[in-house]
Amino acid sequence: MASSTPLLFSVFTLFSLLLLASSSKDNTPLTITIPLTSTFTKNPSTEPLLFLQHLANASLSRAHHLKHGKTSPLRQISLFPHSYGGHSISLSFGTPPQKLSFIVDTGSHVVWAPCTTHYKCTNCSFSDADPKKVPIFNPELSSSDKILGCRDSKCVSVFSPDVHLGCPRCNGNSKNCSHACPRYSLPYAIGESSGYFRSENLNFPGQTIHNFLVGCTTSSVGEVTSAALAGFGRTMFSLPMQMGVKKFAYCLNSHDYDDTRNSSKLNLDYSDSETKGLSYAPFLKNPPDSPFYYYLGVEDITIGNKFLGIPSKYLAPGSDGSGGVVIDSGFWVGYMSGPVFKLATNELKRQMSKYRRSLEAETQCGVTPCYNFTGHKSIKIPDLIYHFTGGATMVVPGNNYFGVEPEISSACFFIITDGSNTLDATPEASIILGNSQHVDFYVEFDLKNERLGFRQQTC
Ligand SMILES: *[C@@H]1O[C@H](CO)[C@@H](O)[C@H](O)[C@H]1NC(C)=O
Ligand SMILES: *[C@@H]1O[C@H](CO)[C@@H](O)[C@H](O)[C@H]1NC(C)=O
Ligand SMILES: *[C@@H]1O[C@H](CO)[C@@H](O)[C@H](O)[C@H]1NC(C)=O
Ligand SMILES: *[C@@H]1O[C@H](CO)[C@@H](O)[C@H](O)[C@H]1NC(C)=O
Ligand SMILES: *[C@@H]1O[C@H](CO)[C@@H](O)[C@H](O)[C@H]1NC(C)=O
Repeated sequence: MASSTPLLFSVFTLFSLLLLASSSKDNTPLTITIPLTSTFTKNPSTEPLLFLQHLANASLSRAHHLKHGKTSPLRQISLFPHSYGGHSISLSFGTPPQKLSFIVDTGSHVVWAPCTTHYKCTNCSFSDADPKKVPIFNPELSSSDKILGCRDSKCVSVFSPDVHLGCPRCNGNSKNCSHACPRYSLPYAIGESSGYFRSENLNFPGQTIHNFLVGCTTSSVGEVTSAALAGFGRTMFSLPMQMGVKKFAYCLNSHDYDDTRNSSKLNLDYSDSETKGLSYAPFLKNPPDSPFYYYLGVEDITIGNKFLGIPSKYLAPGSDGSGGVVIDSGFWVGYMSGPVFKLATNELKRQMSKYRRSLEAETQCGVTPCYNFTGHKSIKIPDLIYHFTGGATMVVPGNNYFGVEPEISSACFFIITDGSNTLDATPEASIILGNSQHVDFYVEFDLKNERLGFRQQTC
């Protein structure tokens, strides 16, 4: 099954892609980093019932947070764009607080940070190039740090067979076992992180969330960025689920792949109030193998005003976990599986036929099609429109799904597919709406009403 292989990117190819994308800037650091994760984790669910139980328990713990954890209904955090295509927030863990930068990843399910002075990264490509400079969380300096015991109800995993938690080293049902929750290992798109779960205080001005489950990652292989990772997925240990918020929202503001842009905001919201002016797409029920993604109900996609007629088996996830449309803030570009990609690019090529293809850019970027606009005074790229179940449409302008390089008058379709040399393995979903597509959209993940709200706006 496709989901048994983690998604692997060819770092080199993406490096060239970044090179092209940033060739107009003088001092842009050419980091070899991509929208990190978009964790195509290996899958769990040999134990779907256990999973359902966890979900039930998750609802309980959310209710608990709602009763005891709230001071103000809305919390705003600054959201910073980065050259590698990700967006981060700053979070403070521990007592006294230690502040670290965390990538916001809606396609990922736990929160973890590079941790302890022994933190080691093998084959990692940090943006600051020096692993010694990686900001780490040091639990030894925190009085609120607790090692998670293996009998703790949080010491469980249904998300990945690689996270064997519980108490395998204890005898039978002995209540008295003092072992720590075993080491986790989280496979990501191009790397893997492992360490120990801790229970910590997560601090916001005027609010402390106690017993927050945070991963203390002591070793990583092939990570692309030094930043810690905040999973915002649909499962119980993601940041919004542990906080018990009813919705979270953000507005991404950068196409520029640089680190100097003004930040935008991430909202964590405990209130029931309805946000004005949003259109909604329903979240679909998750297949048991991919519990953390936000699957969107999509009827079809148009390019310009032409419906692609995408067969429904690609639009909704099957019980085996394949297919479906997910929105993933941790995935920079977009993705379409082979047959969908073919439908989309055939139509796109037809509508763009007055422009010359740039094979040079295609070779350099490893994506296709690319166009050379030299000699054209004005360029028109058709909109890409998602038609959601219920009638709402999301109109993604050409700028959001093409990597446009005005300096060399060229642009490439920034949606990758299977078999292209930017992808070494196949995601389960058929379509991934990556973060570049929702730049300059306010997007709200309405967890309570299980829907995605959105509106176009300047962020
Ligand atoms: C869920 O909570 C119940 C009651 O606290 C507990 O007995 C059960 O073991 C929990 N299940 C899981 C999978 O954590
Ligand atoms: C690190 O990269 C080298 C060269 O690409 C490779 O031979 C080695 O196996 C990698 N190590 C790990 C732990 O992945
Ligand atoms: C609990 O552990 C202690 C020491 O590790 C041992 O002496 C005691 O018998 C254990 N109790 C039970 C009920 O297992
Ligand atoms: C950042 O914000 C300031 C003040 O609002 C504004 O003047 C400036 O143009 C912004 N910079 C960018 C790169 O958007
Ligand atoms: C675009 O076309 C011009 C004129 O033929 C050529 O000089 C240039 O190298 C081309 N650029 C790309 C990126 O294909």
